[in-house]
Amino acid sequence: MASRLEAQHLYKVFGRRPDEAVEKLRQGADRDELRAGGTTAAVIDASFTVDPGQIFVVMGLSGSGKSTLLRMLNGLLEPTAGQVRFDGEDLTALTDRELREVRSKKISMVFQHFALFPHRSVRDNAAYGLEVQGVPRAERARRADEALALCGLAGWEDSWPDELSGGMQQRVGLARALATDADLLLMDESFSALDPLIRRDMQDQLLQLQKTLKKTIVFITHDLNEAMRLGDRIAVMRDGRIVQNGTAEDILLRPEGDYVASFIQDVDRSRVLTAESVMDREVRGDEADCGCETATPHTPFTELCALSARLPHPVAVLDEHRELVGVVPRGRLIGFLADESDAADAPPVTCDAPRGKGGKDGKKEAARA
Ligand SMILES: Nc1ncnc2c1ncn2[C@@H]1O[C@H](COP(=O)(O)OP(=O)(O)OP(=O)(O)O)[C@@H](O)[C@H]1O
Ligand SMILES: [Mg+2]
Repeated sequence: MASRLEAQHLYKVFGRRPDEAVEKLRQGADRDELRAGGTTAAVIDASFTVDPGQIFVVMGLSGSGKSTLLRMLNGLLEPTAGQVRFDGEDLTALTDRELREVRSKKISMVFQHFALFPHRSVRDNAAYGLEVQGVPRAERARRADEALALCGLAGWEDSWPDELSGGMQQRVGLARALATDADLLLMDESFSALDPLIRRDMQDQLLQLQKTLKKTIVFITHDLNEAMRLGDRIAVMRDGRIVQNGTAEDILLRPEGDYVASFIQDVDRSRVLTAESVMDREVRGDEADCGCETATPHTPFTELCALSARLPHPVAVLDEHRELVGVVPRGRLIGFLADESDAADAPPVTCDAPRGKGGKDGKKEAARA
């Protein structure tokens, strides 16, 4: 599958003699060394690809270079070095006019503090991108109404922005991006200003929309839980560099370096892990089916726990051909939850205690747990 978006060795340096600074960075200098000379290396040697229909999340602390990276992806900022390819076309080689054309038709951006025009109706706000493209009034109203409905705002088309809550206003921003039919959505901290519950609702809505619309999305956030919920892939940025690029599971189970490892301490692992990530793969094949409930490789961790609580034996994980691809003993679930995934593979420790009143039966109880 050809990638839709590709960043190749992107650099952005603000300040004097940027080319010289890039050379220094290529030779291993870091941000702090350059800052001493009055230049800011906002993005350093960023390379990644985003496939069609993927949500690619860029995660990092404030100042790590996320917004600068995003602005280079749609040509709002010119890279100091490196290339951006969108559908095979080198954006950095386009003229300003060609770039504006690509930006208005194929790429949409949703910002953190989405500013609506206060004297335009919700419909006209959602239709703004189409107006810029010169789409006739009736068609833009129709398309804006469709996009508003997708974002759960049917019935609000003739309202004014100040009649909407913050979350609803943010959804108008999303509707504006969707109305243009752009293939590529760039979302910069689009949900960060929202209350936690509304934010979660927006995340759900985006995932739901994505199932049918299958846009290519680059989503910026400083929240790792949000990154893990939304991202098919996640790039973690630190001081201008991408320090890890992988799936949520890669980042959670195989963090590269102390920095990423320190980040994942606060992540709710049960939201990310699935049967596939925790199952014991040694047990496979065509096992006899005892008729109990089973899991699939995609069964979420919490569902797996519930299943495990109901079953007297490890949960069987079956693929789409109903072949056994692994099993999940209860101890493994607890091990992964407590970040003791290695312990799950260790040989079981034998111990007679605690004993129940009935001696032998007590042992059985302990073994069953
Ligand atoms: N136009 C500019 N001129 C000079 N320095 C800039 C400019 N834009 C960004 N920077 C610097 O580049 C670095 C990265 O900034 P950027 O806005 O990309 O970070 P960010 O990860 O988006 O942060 P935040 O989470 O706070 O939005 C920062 O040190 C910032 O001060
Ligand atoms: Mg930013």
